[in-house]
Amino acid sequence: MADVVPIARAAAAGGADAVSLVNTYLGTAIDWRRRRSVFPRGFAGLSGPAIKPMALLAVARTAKAAGVPVIGIGGIATAEDVLEYLVAGATAVQVGTSCFWDPAHPVRLADEVTRLLAAEGISDVRDLVGTLDREAPADRGRGDPGRGDPGRGDTERPPAESLRTAEPRTAEG
Ligand SMILES: Cc1cc2nc3c(=O)[nH]c(=O)nc-3n(C[C@H](O)[C@H](O)[C@H](O)COP(=O)(O)O)c2cc1C
Repeated sequence: MADVVPIARAAAAGGADAVSLVNTYLGTAIDWRRRRSVFPRGFAGLSGPAIKPMALLAVARTAKAAGVPVIGIGGIATAEDVLEYLVAGATAVQVGTSCFWDPAHPVRLADEVTRLLAAEGISDVRDLVGTLDREAPADRGRGDPGRGDPGRGDTERPPAESLRTAEPRTAEG
């Protein structure tokens, strides 16, 4: 898959007010008895929860580096998903596939987002946008056992380590 950051930068340089990402990822399904893809073109677009981890990374990288507002899309099915995208840096989100099984789903997601924010004591949703790797109130005073160092808090964690080091690779690479 192409690296979306330079594409988003080019869009911003060309005057885009915002970019939306991601679209579907290419995939296939095979009828092994017929030795053929079930899709006439041999592939089709994969959407829904399966693509969320990849989409979330693309959004986080772009929001951090492209200097243009990002609309986060890909696999959003719960209010938790919405809030993850906001923390990754999206200033808005789109809900696609989940509308196929329930067209009113986004309305309930918005209500649930409001409830979750209130439960966390967040009065303005904008306070959450782009806060990846910033200290969260829930972590204040706690160590970071995930790094094997109980005395070390999140404030000391190098920022967005994974975003910097895991360079995207093409399908060929
Ligand atoms: C049936 C279908 C049709 C789509 N048509 C378009 C389209 O015409 N233009 C577009 O930019 N994206 C289109 N998409 C991509 C969605 O806008 C969205 O980027 C993608 O499905 C990932 O989000 P989701 O997991 O919430 O569905 C389509 C997706 C699906 C499943």
